[in-house]
Amino acid sequence: MTENNLNYDQWKKVLAEHGQEHVLGHWPKLTAREREGLCQQLNEIDFVELGDLLAGQDETTDFKALAMRAASPPAVLADGSGADWSPAEARERGEEALKQGEFGAVIVAGGQGTRLGFDQPKGMFSIGPVSGRTLFQFFVDRLLAVNEKYGCCIPLYIMTSEATDEQTRDYFRENDNLGLQPDDLHIFKQGVMPAVDSVNGKLLMDSTSSIALSPDGHGGTVSALERGGCLDDAVRRGIRHLAYIQVDNPLAQLCDPELIGHHLMAASDMTTQVVRKREPMERVGNVVLVDGQVQIIEYSDLPESAATATNEDGSLKLWAGNIAVHMFKLDFLRRVAGEAASLPFHRASKKVPYCDESGKLVHVDQPNAVKFEKFIFDLLPIAKNAFVVESLASEAFAPVKNAAGARTDTPETARKAITDLHRGWLEEAGVCVDQGVQVEINPRVALSAGDLHEKIEPNLRISADQYFDSRLES
Ligand code: UD1
Repeated sequence: MTENNLNYDQWKKVLAEHGQEHVLGHWPKLTAREREGLCQQLNEIDFVELGDLLAGQDETTDFKALAMRAASPPAVLADGSGADWSPAEARERGEEALKQGEFGAVIVAGGQGTRLGFDQPKGMFSIGPVSGRTLFQFFVDRLLAVNEKYGCCIPLYIMTSEATDEQTRDYFRENDNLGLQPDDLHIFKQGVMPAVDSVNGKLLMDSTSSIALSPDGHGGTVSALERGGCLDDAVRRGIRHLAYIQVDNPLAQLCDPELIGHHLMAASDMTTQVVRKREPMERVGNVVLVDGQVQIIEYSDLPESAATATNEDGSLKLWAGNIAVHMFKLDFLRRVAGEAASLPFHRASKKVPYCDESGKLVHVDQPNAVKFEKFIFDLLPIAKNAFVVESLASEAFAPVKNAAGARTDTPETARKAITDLHRGWLEEAGVCVDQGVQVEINPRVALSAGDLHEKIEPNLRISADQYFDSRLES
């Protein structure tokens, strides 16, 4: 009996138990290679978990009811109020932890830049307003700068997906890991979830030999970190916490000492950085307090009445916008990685083209499928001492989500935010920057305004676009 036939018998039994035998409907016509590919896909699916989801055993959250009880979360505000310690004390504590090598970094980069209209992994998108550096370069330069400043060696764990893995690996290989030592870079792939027919729960096929699979959401980071050996690697290195960002925010303050310090002073399992929402219906998650627990209600789940509710002074009641910058205690992640049910699945109704019984691909114009995703921020309610730190959007949040021409979160708005921030740093240090000139500072020159003071030439005037990558003269 060939290996393929053995697979066939085994899988036929499993699939029959779960009412999904149609997946093997075209088996006799498949080549050996196609059969192998299909079996590999089947191996990646947890049929027991899927069965529970289809039986509705996962809880569906009543966000309307939650939103009624939601209040502003306790937080350290941008002016430093709200904690028993000062920002300076937090910074000092964070610097010490960095020097001790307690931190590793995680970037989630599994999503495809569909909304951005970019057909490569988003991390390869050029965002530097003057330098043209890519998003990946922004973050690696930042880590290298933190390493130099604090004499540490922060490992970088990058999560990819089926869609972004190969190109991301090629990109780092072809560019000498952007300066990272090979041992300090770990690229690992997230898991997948099948799309199912929304009427009958059958797995959808995108060809006669392939199941329609998609990434399992950034909540899949926890199990993917474990599967990819990253949690063990972190333990081996003596790391105690991981700083987490999304690949789409060039202003993300990855491994910022003050943020780290707040997380440590609060003895928190999970700390999340927020910014004040610019408008009530902004497309960011809402960090709130419900029944004593910090949690995030996604913009799409928050009823307008709750999003627009104001305090007496006219400020928004639910003001804290999720920028997806989190810090985790490593022990907490290791614990939840072992608890399969620690993160719930969110369901989304999607249009998914599918292969019918005759083998023909059917395109759809209405949602016909359910996709399942986990969100990393759903760890907040089960984290001990979950903590919230407010930062200014002008310093920490300029996401690249939409293609040029959209109203917000475009490459243009992000480049402007970068140049505005760096112009402010230069002006604070006494430099005159002419109107309309774009400036960009590599973090290895300065990680903050404070770093510039000691390096800047007095009375410098900048009258043409300039990228400061090593020197500070005009
Ligand atoms: C996300 C947050 C939102 C937050 C905003 C800040 C969710 C559900 N919402 O919204 O609360 O205010 O960012 O910018 O996260 N990713 C993966 N694998 C996946 C899915 C996503 O790696 O399976 C990565 C993407 O590469 C991307 C990031 O996660 O970097 C965000 O995903 P996206 O779906 O774009 O979320 P947003 O709607 O932008």
